[in-house]
Amino acid sequence: MKILVKRGEITDFKSEAVVVPYFEDGKELQGKVKHLDKNSGGLIREIIGGGDFEGKHLQVSVTYTRGIIPAKRIVLAGVGKKADFTTEKLRGAFAHAARHVRSLKLREFSTSLDFILSGRPLDEIAKAVVEGVCLGLYQYTSFKTIDRDKMEGMKEFAIIAETEKAFNIIGSAAKEAEIISRAVCFTRDMVSAPGNEMTPTDMANEARKIAKRKNIKLTVLDEAEMQKIGMNALLAVARGSEEPAKLIILEFRGGNKSDPPIVFVGKGLTFDSGGISIKPSEKMEEMKSDMAGGAAVMGAIMAAADLSLKVNAVGLIPATENLPGGRAYKPGDILKSLSGQTIEVLSTDAEGRLILADALTYAGRFKPAAIVDIATLTAACVIALGDHVTGMMGTDDKLKRKIKDAADATEEKVWELPLWEDYYELIKSDVADYKNHGGRPGGAITAAAFLSKFVGNYPWVHLDIAGPAWLTKDKPYIPKGASGVGVRLMVQFLRHWQKRGRN
Ligand code: BES
Ligand code: MN
Ligand code: ZN
Repeated sequence: MKILVKRGEITDFKSEAVVVPYFEDGKELQGKVKHLDKNSGGLIREIIGGGDFEGKHLQVSVTYTRGIIPAKRIVLAGVGKKADFTTEKLRGAFAHAARHVRSLKLREFSTSLDFILSGRPLDEIAKAVVEGVCLGLYQYTSFKTIDRDKMEGMKEFAIIAETEKAFNIIGSAAKEAEIISRAVCFTRDMVSAPGNEMTPTDMANEARKIAKRKNIKLTVLDEAEMQKIGMNALLAVARGSEEPAKLIILEFRGGNKSDPPIVFVGKGLTFDSGGISIKPSEKMEEMKSDMAGGAAVMGAIMAAADLSLKVNAVGLIPATENLPGGRAYKPGDILKSLSGQTIEVLSTDAEGRLILADALTYAGRFKPAAIVDIATLTAACVIALGDHVTGMMGTDDKLKRKIKDAADATEEKVWELPLWEDYYELIKSDVADYKNHGGRPGGAITAAAFLSKFVGNYPWVHLDIAGPAWLTKDKPYIPKGASGVGVRLMVQFLRHWQKRGRN
């Protein structure tokens, strides 16, 4: 889909449909909406007066303009009460409107941001609108062969700007939002892909596509190379599978040479059967999404490069399957990690923390300014916070603050769980340094406590996305399935870092 920003008057613009966002309590038409109403002979007043449409959030109503204005249809999109306005609501409203337009088999539509008298900066509004449209229209159709022509997507979305100044602001904001949305959809595609089509080798191939960009270097360590340096925790998980594990390293150098990088570490478990501690078969297919953290890191690096951010950022993705093969690792096994510390395996289903442990240790090689890991790590996190919230734990208050700020800006919900000393007792092993399972109570936290033991002396934050990575129900601008959670958050974090550095 092409996103266009054009100079002109919305009332003069020819299009299949013009989306008019509308506040629920706007008793009197205001600004551009009033103007459009007047030009269309009172069409909007008629719809609202008739009671068909109140402007409740996500409500959509379509009417034909019968040639009174050049646009064929007016699509009213409810934004809810003005007092409750957030850009998140706008994303949702535009996602719903765009999907409705698509369901009418239209291939093109338009809008004007002058309809939205919210008092928020224009660039913020423009970004939310473009994100809502791009993310809301997402479909995963790679493997559909029947009626493909009917699945054809939207061709064009135009934002009409009246003034030169608005045109410029909207133009650059829309471009940015398009880059970020594309990265989110790239991540969604990877996560949606089935395990047989998204193996560790396939992930490395996707990384190769990203690495075609300027200032990106890709290194992929194979099993022999990992063995040489002693990444035995990661390799233990891989042993039950015939698919070779990979450590994918994407280095983006957009900043000064001497600036220490941010290292993002993403769990790349391309299929988690649980291994010998095998999972119940019900819903096991969803475990193809256990590489969502890794895919999000790849999406974030891709967006950072496309936005030419002036920061250095490294993406580290330990990628493997977790299967119960004949050579699989077993409960009771003791592993010597890359850090030299030993781990007793109590559950082969607590594999994420094992591959992350070695990757986090490896991250130290970059002398990072900060390390952020992102992983579909524990069901316990979903129990604690619900399936729409990312759990955050970490050792550095400043870094946690920055992640929280980025989460607030992108409206990807993040909530902190404590990482108190008491929890460390639960991961001590009788026979090794640590065990990989701390029991059910505080399961999300003991997993993070475990990870912390493998992070060198660097500011570190862990994000548990087991809940929000995969949706079983549609959300306003996230169709059910892979959400791409974390991409917007990490990109926002980097943009902030570009401005302020570690302060
Ligand atoms: N990948 C799972 C966590 C998960 C579960 C993500 C459900 C998304 C939805 C992880 O590898 C896992 O199996 N964790 C175990 C850990 C336990 C054995 C300590 C869990 O959460 O049950
Ligand atoms: Mn598991
Ligand atoms: Zn897992």
